[in-house]
Order: sequence, then C-alpha cells, then structure tokens
Amino acid sequence: MEKLSNWKRSHTCGELRKEHAETEVTLMGWVDSWRDHGGVFFVDLRDRYGKTQIVFNPGTGPGLPGAFGRAGEIYQKAKDLRSEYVIAVRGKVALRPAGMINKNLATGEIEIMAQELKILNPAKPAPFEISDRIEAAEELRLKYRYLDLRRPDMQRNLLIRHRLYKTTRDYLDRHGFVDIETPILMRSTPEGARDYLVPSRLYKGSFYALPQSPQMYKQILMVAGMDRYFQIVRCFRDEDTRADRQPEFTQIDLEMSFVDQNDVMAMVEGLVAEMMQNILDKKISLPLPRFTYVEAMSRFGSDKPDLRFGLEIRNVTAFAEQSEFKIFVETAKSGKAVQALALPGGAKYSRKQIDDLTQVATNFGAKGLVAIKVAESGWEGGTAKFFAGGLIGKINTALNAKAGDLLLFVADEEEKAQQVLGALRLRLAQEEKLIAENSYNLLWVVDFPLLEFDPEEKRWMARHHPFTSPKDEDIPLMDTAPEKVRAKAYDLVLNGTEIAGGSIRIHQRELQKKMFQLLGISDAEAENKFGFLMEAFEYGAPPHGGIAFGFDRLVMLFAGRKSIREVIAFPKTNSALSLMDGAPSPVDERQLRELGIKLA
Ligand code: AMO
Repeated sequence: MEKLSNWKRSHTCGELRKEHAETEVTLMGWVDSWRDHGGVFFVDLRDRYGKTQIVFNPGTGPGLPGAFGRAGEIYQKAKDLRSEYVIAVRGKVALRPAGMINKNLATGEIEIMAQELKILNPAKPAPFEISDRIEAAEELRLKYRYLDLRRPDMQRNLLIRHRLYKTTRDYLDRHGFVDIETPILMRSTPEGARDYLVPSRLYKGSFYALPQSPQMYKQILMVAGMDRYFQIVRCFRDEDTRADRQPEFTQIDLEMSFVDQNDVMAMVEGLVAEMMQNILDKKISLPLPRFTYVEAMSRFGSDKPDLRFGLEIRNVTAFAEQSEFKIFVETAKSGKAVQALALPGGAKYSRKQIDDLTQVATNFGAKGLVAIKVAESGWEGGTAKFFAGGLIGKINTALNAKAGDLLLFVADEEEKAQQVLGALRLRLAQEEKLIAENSYNLLWVVDFPLLEFDPEEKRWMARHHPFTSPKDEDIPLMDTAPEKVRAKAYDLVLNGTEIAGGSIRIHQRELQKKMFQLLGISDAEAENKFGFLMEAFEYGAPPHGGIAFGFDRLVMLFAGRKSIREVIAFPKTNSALSLMDGAPSPVDERQLRELGIKLA
C-alpha cells in the first residue's frame, strides 16, 4: 500500500480525448479489468466519470528507458494488479493505433503510456463482477452495496436522482418556496399506515412516531404565514414493501396558502415539465390531461391509468342483460355490472393463455372471466349461443371489436369489475408489447371520493387524509350520501404509477369537526391526536393546500427502472431488512432497561 504523497489527480477517467495527446497526466481509480498480453499489461481504470486504458509496456513506451530500466520495474509491479485495486498512474496520453480505437468508450481514442504506478490499496476479489452486464442476486448486491454502487448503471441512477433534487430546488426556489425542516421525532400522523415508534427514555411508556409525512407540520407552517413551503423529506411507513414501496422513502413535499386546486396543479405541472426537460430532454405540453376518478375507473379500471396504450374498458351491462347468459343476466338484475374490453388480434390466444388471464382475474378477486373470440360469422365458443345475433353486433360495436379480436368480460360489483379489467388491461399491454420504450404519459386524476368504506372496521375512512376538503358543492351530501362526496384531491400519474398526491385542506374548525364525525373519530380522540393542529386553526388559518411527490418513484421512472430499490443508495429488502448493516438488530439488555422496555 503506498501513500498518495504529493500526487494530485490531473484528470478523471472519463475526460481524456485525442486533443490531450502527449499530455502528462495523473489518473486515479479502480482497476476495472486487466489483460496480460505477454509483455504488455493493460488496465482499464475506472472512476465515476468513465474508463481509461492504461498501458504498462516495459520496453517501448515513448520516452521510456529500456526494458531493464524503470519501465521494466513498473511493468513488473503492474502485473500484480487485480480487479478493484485502487491505483494512481502517471503517464503520457498517446493516440491509439487506428485499428485499436474503441468507439464504445468516450476515451476510446487514447490510452495512457504508464510511467509511474502507485498501488494505493489492494482489494479482495469482489463477490460479483462490477459491470452492467451481470445481474448478481439482489441480496448479494444489497449486502455489498458499495460494490454494486460502483456499477456505472447504479451511478447513473444516483446522478439522475441528484439532478432531480437540483431541478426541484431550483424551480421551487424561483417560485418563492422556502425549504423548512420538520421534526423526525414527532407525534403519530394520520396518513393511515402503521407508524414506526421510537421509545422515549425520559418519559417511559411514551413514544415518538417517525413521520409518515410532514402533513400536519406543513399545514401549521401555513398558519405561521410561511405561504409557500417545501422540503425534500424522508417519510416512514411500516407497511408491506413492494417494488414501488419502501419503509422509508422520500417525498418532495409542498404546501401553498391562498390557493385553490388549479393553482397547486399548475405549480406542479411547471415543475414536472422542467424535470422532463432537464433530465430527459423532453418537452411536454401543458396543461396535462385531467380525468375524474369516475372516468379513470370506468375507462381504464384504475385510479392511476396508464395511457401509453388503448384497450379501453366499457360497461356493457345493458347488453349483457338482454342475453340468455345466466351469470350476466343475474349480475345485471342485482344492480352489479358487466365490464368488458376487446383485445385486437387476441383471437389467436391459446387455451393456456386464456387460462393465465383467468388466473390474473381471479387473483384480483374476480369470480371468473368470460373470454370470447370474434370471428367474421359471429362469436366462437360455447358462450356465444346465449347471445342473439343482433346483440352480438351491438356488443361488438360498443367494444369497437372486429373479427380476430378477443373479448374479455367480468361480471361483478361495478368497481371490482373495473379493477379486474384494469389489471387485465395492464397484463395484456405487457404481453402484447403495446408500450413503446422511452414513452412518458402524464395525467391528473381528480375528484376522488372523499371517503372509502372499510368493510372490516365497518366505518368510513378518509381516502386521502382527514384534512382533505370536500368539494364545496358536495358538502351537503356529507349528511345524506357520504359515498357521493368528492374531495378536492388530485393525484399525478406517470406511466401508470401514482407519483404525487395532494389536496386542498379543510381550514375551518366546523367542517373539520364534521369530517371527524363522519370518520367516527370522537371529539376526545380528535383532541388527543390532532388537537394541536385544530388549535392552530383557531388562530387564523389561511385557505391552503399542497401535494407530495413520491420522489423515489419519480426517479425510478425517469431512470427507466422497475423498482425504487434501484434508485435508493441503501434500500431495504422486500422484507424490510438492511442487508449491509444488518438492521433491524437486537439491542443490549441495558438499552432496553434504560427505555423501560421488557420484551414479551
Ligand atoms: P401520499 O400518502 O399520497 O400523500 O404520499 C405521496 C406520495 O408518496 C409516494 N409514496 C411512497 N413511495 C415509496 N414508498 C412508500 N411506502 C410510499 N407511500 C407513498 C407516492 C405518493 O403519491 N401528506 C400527503 C401529501 C399531501 O396531501 O400533500 C401524503 O403523504 O408516490
């Protein structure tokens, strides 16, 4: 191991071009690969900026003494180099011979004729090859995350993330938003997931909660007159982890005073447009399309529809009712719905493929899936006989179906049938490769229902959170038909993923009280949980609203990845483990005693 001494890096490993020929340079980095070509030793030296080829030649380097002089010594030393050794090299930039130019490498026109070498640190053989070609098991990658993060692909993801932070900060700063930190140790928030709790040592039996979001603080900052707040902030939710969910994740959180829904949405659209421009070099036209929740559900079977492809869903209950197909008739009679979609060219699907689709449907809770192939002469298969010729024509027309298509029907509660077809729609798009690469589809979903019924707890729950304002015209419905009340809530959807969600808040005590009543939250409970916010509202709360982006999801989509773990430096596994540092871990008996905790 040698010291850096007074060596200074002159260039990065991604920097040198043919213009640099004959320059004396000092490069530092990791040995990406090495080749011993009998007498000449080659190293590809890597850092975050790129790779440069280094040549250790004992005899023929320009200006070098002969094979038995200094160059020979350096050559002998270089022969000990192995992958991931950290080295420093001094040498001269040389043009590569014409046939040896590597067009795939930014530095591919040159190489460095090494004159001096320092081995700054040797390295054990890595448990996996550090290259974008290989895909080691994810567990291994997470355990040795520092090695995984050396891969150019992962570094690129982190750089995209960095540029998204920067664009966000620049844009929001330009629009007068103030970056304000809020506590990590706080009282439990009402976002609806399970809290992570932190026991208090000083107040045994009491706990802090890690914020599921800074929701209440940002509303209080509006009461405090900050007018425009933002924060790129970590949030913690103890919920099942998935490809787009982590126990701790990052939000771009913002809140604005004296605004309505359109003001918040316009501000956010400007931010997204700037992100698309800066990071993807794509222009998007504003305003973004808006779909009401009802429309999104009925046409695409999802409250976060992916519109990069068609396959629209239709309600065909009125036709199904006229058939002699018992399931459809009974579904229609009981006030439920028959929903359907047509897959162009899908008549080629095999029995097995249709069974797979049926499996997708039943996994999503459908009782079954009716699949019918459209032929020139009518419908094929056993089910067809329950439909009169005229009816078949009408359904084909409604579904825009023609000979060679496959029709898929689901009969169920309307929303369930929509959701099942929504899931099938996504599956079919994958199977049929309907989604063009590098395409981006942004849209808003608005007018969400304020409430959703929890059949287990047999009570209404806030769909967004309890501070979300109902639409003014729907307030009277809170007493008579709560299920019909729409919220001033909006979600931003990118390629079928919800990347941001927000709302205009309730800022008046009376309405808030009514909301709590609807949610079955007693005065005492409201006081206990949100009393400080309610009290703040009595000292002059401006009308306000905001939104939060799921920042990791945004980066994931911008980087074209399928999991947010690919864009988080140190993510948890699907079972919420941190494999590198081994969290969570048992703690000392003494630590528990201090906290007054006895394990059950
Ligand atoms: P919401 O709960 O909708 O709203 O969260 C906002 C956005 O955060 C992302 N998100 C997640 N990302 C990764 N892992 C998770 N576990 C996770 N949970 C949510 C989603 C989501 O759109 N306080 C409100 C915002 C507001 O009303 O202003 C809130 O947190 O992309």
